[in-house]
Amino acid sequence: MAKNQISSESNFIVGIDLGTSRSAIVTENGVKGVVESIVGWPQDIIGVKVLGNSIAIGDTAIEFRELLEISHPLAHGVIKEGVPRDIEAAEELIKHIISLAEVPEKKKICGIIGVPAKASLQSKQILLDLTKKHMHQVTLISEPFAVAYREERLNNSIVIDLGAGTLNFCTMKGRIPDQNNQVSLEKAGNFIDTLLFESLKNKFPDAQLNLNIVKKLKEKHGTIQRGGGKIVAELRMHGKPRVLDITDEMISACSAFVPNMIEEIKKLVISFDPEFQEEAMKNIILAGGMSKVKGYDAVIKEALADFGDAQIHIIDDPVYAVAEGALKIGTDIPVKYWSQLGETAASGK
Ligand SMILES: Nc1ncnc2c1ncn2[C@@H]1O[C@H](COP(=O)(O)OP(=O)(O)OP(=O)(O)O)[C@@H](O)[C@H]1O
Ligand SMILES: [Mg+2]
Repeated sequence: MAKNQISSESNFIVGIDLGTSRSAIVTENGVKGVVESIVGWPQDIIGVKVLGNSIAIGDTAIEFRELLEISHPLAHGVIKEGVPRDIEAAEELIKHIISLAEVPEKKKICGIIGVPAKASLQSKQILLDLTKKHMHQVTLISEPFAVAYREERLNNSIVIDLGAGTLNFCTMKGRIPDQNNQVSLEKAGNFIDTLLFESLKNKFPDAQLNLNIVKKLKEKHGTIQRGGGKIVAELRMHGKPRVLDITDEMISACSAFVPNMIEEIKKLVISFDPEFQEEAMKNIILAGGMSKVKGYDAVIKEALADFGDAQIHIIDDPVYAVAEGALKIGTDIPVKYWSQLGETAASGK
């Protein structure tokens, strides 16, 4: 082989999920990494000294947030536009997750990135422009498609990805889904956190709360089911810990997007040919971090009872499912065909 010719063995395949809340990477040799999608810079020289660094990413940024200028560079699953610091943060985040991938020397990184079902062309272009600086080739696919691929339910199935910024819905009909098969709603985990924060503030005006505390409470106790006993939280009031009953507030906040979610699922079931609707009903997949909230499967099954017997499958690993699905596609399909999967850019690096 000529010296400059690139053999496919020199490619190194990675799957990436750039999430509003968390970003994950998995690689062809089994390395996995996840980081909170948050970046911070010290505000002054003392901040640099305290942090021991000029930038903080992920958990470190959360830990030191008080002394940092913070950016959540992804909103509703895409890079925020218009604020230069957010673009810079997005690039730092991308560099960071690539650094987690332990890429062997001389290998060329080829990545498939999951993006929300309805990401705009402009937001995809921004993402491609940023990521191709750090990868040999990059291709974007929709997140629910990645999940369906991982679960091997590519025909007559419905994927519902319950994330932080968006709820993504997608019907799989035996081919790569296009815009007509996909819907995104912008009421998801972050929206629930804000609702829960406001209702708890209302009920316990003296409780010391922030969105981080509320998000953790939701991740520990999130449910839409009554009858599971009281949900109690230890919160500080005037500096003193107090045990408070937050059952009603939790159930009501976590239920907030249920009517919208059910309405979309019904529309999607009906979008299948009548002969395949029964099969689609048996292949409803719930993914995303919010799929851990108890009771969404039961409420969907009940809402679809008129249509028949629905079967809802909650995926086992919402943290890595999109990245794993993206990696699986990337290793099954040779890189030279990736542009048929979705928007693609190459840097030649
Ligand atoms: N165990 C849990 N119980 C309840 N909610 C959870 C749990 N784990 C994570 N979440 C919530 O799931 C959401 C994050 O899900 P996920 O990581 O799928 O989102 P994302 O990919 O970052 O967002 P998006 O797909 O919208 O860009 C957050 O709102 C988080 O609080
Ligand atoms: Mg996601």
